Amino acid sequence: MSRPIFHLTKLKKAFGTKVILDEISLSFIEGARIGVIGHNGSGKTTLLRLIAGEDKDYDGICQPIDGLTIGYVPQEPHLNPEMTVKEHLDEAVSSIRALVEEYEKITHDLGDLEGEALDKAMARMEVLQIEIEHRDAWELERHLEQAHHALGLPPMDAKIAPLSGGEMRRVALCKTLIAHPDLLLLDEPTNHLDANTVQWLETHLANYEGTIILITHDRYFLDNVVTWMLEIERTKAYPFEGNYSAYLEKKMARLNSEKKVEAARQRKMKEELEWIRTSPKARATKSKARLRRYDDMLQEQKDMADDKIEIQIPPGRKLGNKVLEVHGLSKAYGEKKLIEDMSFELPPGGILGVIGENGTGKTTLMRIILEQEKADSGEVILGKTVDLCYMDQSRVHLEDENTVFEEIAEGGTRFPSARASWQPAPTFPVSTSGERISRSGSGSCQVDNATECRSPRCYAMAATSSSSTNPRTTWTSRPCRCSRRHCSTSRDAPSS
Ligand SMILES: Nc1ncnc2c1ncn2[C@@H]1O[C@H](COP(=O)(O)OP(=O)(O)OP(=O)(O)O)[C@@H](O)[C@H]1O
Ligand SMILES: [Mg+2]
Repeated sequence: MSRPIFHLTKLKKAFGTKVILDEISLSFIEGARIGVIGHNGSGKTTLLRLIAGEDKDYDGICQPIDGLTIGYVPQEPHLNPEMTVKEHLDEAVSSIRALVEEYEKITHDLGDLEGEALDKAMARMEVLQIEIEHRDAWELERHLEQAHHALGLPPMDAKIAPLSGGEMRRVALCKTLIAHPDLLLLDEPTNHLDANTVQWLETHLANYEGTIILITHDRYFLDNVVTWMLEIERTKAYPFEGNYSAYLEKKMARLNSEKKVEAARQRKMKEELEWIRTSPKARATKSKARLRRYDDMLQEQKDMADDKIEIQIPPGRKLGNKVLEVHGLSKAYGEKKLIEDMSFELPPGGILGVIGENGTGKTTLMRIILEQEKADSGEVILGKTVDLCYMDQSRVHLEDENTVFEEIAEGGTRFPSARASWQPAPTFPVSTSGERISRSGSGSCQVDNATECRSPRCYAMAATSSSSTNPRTTWTSRPCRCSRRHCSTSRDAPSS
């Protein structure tokens, strides 16, 4: 039977008075591939950072077994922009290379040793041999080459700074995968990756010799990779054995049983309410405890009700007929041609999905339309009634020091008056509106970003890295008169 390699016992994590994880007790077994899911802001990243040892401020126990190696790729990986791809990879494998170097040095010196020194050297070689085999260190250079190729990394001597979001994530992933840790922690690893790379990663992780804990909102990825699901919900963690589909079935059963408990609770509340209304005298003398219980039940109801909120967003001003025209656009960085003679037109109400492999120029196109980047030739014409709103790949334009409220109200004291109702992700928590942006779960920030689109005349753009054959792709069913073969509009959106 597989042994447990990591223990959480009554693990509690709070930020100030806000409890994120409450007394969680779990053990992770060797070889398990665990998918962590939960709403934005539920505490997934917080949990992963605790397991990675990045956050030491908690109550309870959060402990790996002795000697366990842990690799962690955060939700927004930070790589030194001044270093090259090669320098990053070398850094990652330095401890594996050191094993081989030490082994070779001992082998070289062996002839000069005798007695106790010789015994000591032989014992050390034995330990090194086991570790080298465990980490497949003899094959390191071959693995490096393979990983570099499979992940389609930029050239080894490329600097990190100008890389695209997807290219940067590939380097971060490669850096951690190549070190082959016993416990691999991945926070939303498919973010920014194109479909081919996602597929490669699925296969790689499904065959990974080690334990994996990963966070993703990608249900296909979960279905293909994980053997356990861990749901974070209202400060608690619920493990389910199986992949995402199996989890859905079990969760349905749990919800049904919770529904029954809730129905019983409602019945009980009704009885209590009747008792309170009908017997004021008895209440005063007989049962303060019973009144307190009623208050507790009301509080439970309030906690549940918090989940259902709606943000009101006024509709934009009517767009004119001309929205966006792109004529003969070209752009290259040095030798690298990204866009060549691109022309298309976007009608009012059109939704254009931009796809392409990592580093092909999707974000560059957005930046040209936004006038943040200059095209080499061609022109972009925006209709007079169009204001642009851009949600960028890494949300850099949100001010960390602003509260969520300040970001949405743009320094105003209230939200614009509501004439239309816009339904955000169902669990955008009301209570985060006074929090600083830097502390919000990153998905919550994306909801904040989307709400910026309340601005009148706003026209939103988004780029995706999926391919036309992948079920993750979001297609639009709106008409588009795009003249480029890359543009695949006019298809029906999948139900996901
Ligand atoms: N340093 C911090 N100080 C205060 N609150 C924080 C801090 N870091 C995270 N939080 C809060 O803890 C909660 C959980 O955040 P976390 O990043 O773990 O969520 P998540 O489940 O990973 O969300 P997402 O799906 O959006 O990535 C959020 O409400 C967030 O605002
Ligand atoms: Mg997160």
